[in-house]
Amino acid sequence: MQQKVTKAIFPVAGMGTRFLPATKAVPKEVMTLVDRPLIQYAIDEARAAGITEFIFVTSRGKGALEDYFDHAPQLEHELRKKGKTELLETLKSTNMESGAIAYIRQHQPLGLGHAVWCARRLIGEEPFAVILPDDVIAAKKPCLQQMMEAYNETGGSMVAAMEVEPSRTSSYGILDTSKEDGNLVKLKGMVEKPAPEDAPSNLAVIGRYILTPTVLQNLNALEPGAGGEIQLTDAIAQEIRESRDVYGCRFRGERFDCGSKAGFLQATLAFGLAREDLRDDLGAYLHSITQVDKAAQ
Ligand code: UTP
Repeated sequence: MQQKVTKAIFPVAGMGTRFLPATKAVPKEVMTLVDRPLIQYAIDEARAAGITEFIFVTSRGKGALEDYFDHAPQLEHELRKKGKTELLETLKSTNMESGAIAYIRQHQPLGLGHAVWCARRLIGEEPFAVILPDDVIAAKKPCLQQMMEAYNETGGSMVAAMEVEPSRTSSYGILDTSKEDGNLVKLKGMVEKPAPEDAPSNLAVIGRYILTPTVLQNLNALEPGAGGEIQLTDAIAQEIRESRDVYGCRFRGERFDCGSKAGFLQATLAFGLAREDLRDDLGAYLHSITQVDKAAQ
């Protein structure tokens, strides 16, 4: 039996330049898919996987994130007065138990590895999860829960893995695999953003991780890697070089890259169409515009 994973790091200190000008004033993580911000999807997934301590690595200008998880006494009072119990219920998922949430500042955007390292004192000597809220995964069983079940069998470190177009490897951390067992692959290496001709496979890391505390020690000593940033991939690859087990978990589910505009729009449509109250109107609208498109061709 592995040590239970109860802590998750949410690195949200990036600048979100792909969504400028919006992200000048609005953190990317509070942008909404239908009516829930990206961060809510990440928190719900963490809770489903048994996480009870939530560590946000933030940066300047992310105050809206902190407000989102705070109580809103005035709003709650007004809703109660008007008998809007359903809306009050909706707000409950945004409430956090006192002390369950911590915020750490990353003072400079030195990369994902550096953001995770900033939380090292809150993690201590325990295994921990990392969730990137930009990667939204629609799945019957939430992705981190799938990974947690696999981790309970294997121990070691684990990353979520998904096949990508071979031409797109330079946008991802790419896995070098040795042994396959069901949905798990044992890794013999990892490379950050390789050109297609240098990529060991087309199996890419997606933003979910379960990591052992030695990864934080590896980060202590790392120098900036690809793109001048301190890469989490490099610290995990060091685990493999030092003969500690690292696995890729081919999760079941659909991943949306909500860090990109196209991915965000696709997720908006997918989550909108999945909602009973929106499906008919949205579906009819999509049908009508695709018909117009066809007619124009
Ligand atoms: P991205 O590579 O998507 O960067 O980060 P970004 O700044 O968020 O967005 P763009 O590329 O400028 O549009 C992946 C994840 O790592 C976090 C981000 O917040 C995001 O969750 N991150 C990245 C940090 O927390 N700190 C960093 O220094 C870099």
